[in-house]
Amino acid sequence: ASVKVFAPATVANVVCGFDVLGFAINAPGDEVIMRRTSSPGIRITKITGDEGKLPLDPKKNTVSSSVQHYLNHIGQPELGLEIELHKKMPIGSGLGSSSASTVAGLFAINTLMDGLLSNHDLIPFAMKGEELACGYGHADNVAPALLGGFVLIRSYEPLDILRLPFPEALYAAVVYPEVDVPTKDARAMIRSKVLLKDAVTQMGNVAGLVAGLFMKDYDLIGRSMQDVLIEPIRSILIPDFYVMRDLAMANGAISFGISGSGPSVFALCKSQETAAQVTALLQTRLKTSGIKSLAFVSQV
Ligand code: HSE
Repeated sequence: ASVKVFAPATVANVVCGFDVLGFAINAPGDEVIMRRTSSPGIRITKITGDEGKLPLDPKKNTVSSSVQHYLNHIGQPELGLEIELHKKMPIGSGLGSSSASTVAGLFAINTLMDGLLSNHDLIPFAMKGEELACGYGHADNVAPALLGGFVLIRSYEPLDILRLPFPEALYAAVVYPEVDVPTKDARAMIRSKVLLKDAVTQMGNVAGLVAGLFMKDYDLIGRSMQDVLIEPIRSILIPDFYVMRDLAMANGAISFGISGSGPSVFALCKSQETAAQVTALLQTRLKTSGIKSLAFVSQV
């Protein structure tokens, strides 16, 4: 038996919700092809699109290692599998690249097991993959990649994850400036202590964003998507960050911010046309600064 699975890119944090909010976009994403074999153990037979960056060693690769956790859990640790990973999105982009691969792998094995576990129950295994990729098992990419739409991680211990409603007309304009920002480094630079007044501002914003999503209130969504904790630090790594923000906001975006740990940025927009226009403006701006970029427009 063999299956082919696609899992999408995701925008983690959604500006104010560090590690607790994320949403999925339609494209790009990664593809995994998985086959049962008679010889025991997992083998990675092929990886494409990674420019040779990802390990073929099944213990070091996030896809195989999280699949192994799944197999251990279901009591079939020796099951024979061949995995092909086709990366269709940039690595270290802040678009949940490792998450898309891991989620595709887990969905594939679970499909081969006739859907033994729910998508929700696959999340902890996918978090193991994130832990291997960046040192911390954050769920704000893997949960939306598995569940779709907007997701809130209300708590990590115990894990409490829920899907949120959102306005039907909501588009993400995503631009990836081609500079390297590994999540591990982008996490290491954040301060571990916050001021009470900043925590108060951030709590208000997260609550406002969630309320705005429920109420389908674009204005509330937009004014809540502000980050006083992480963005002031991480934005340093992103070329023209504040210039791009001004451009996006002046051209119809509801909000603008860093996607995950960056360097990708994103703007939420009410229409596909606005999102396309915003990506074009941002790309032109980056080009003026000599930076190559990729852009994706997607309905949320
Ligand atoms: N919440 C994570 C971070 C997302 O900001 O480090 C990484 O994509």
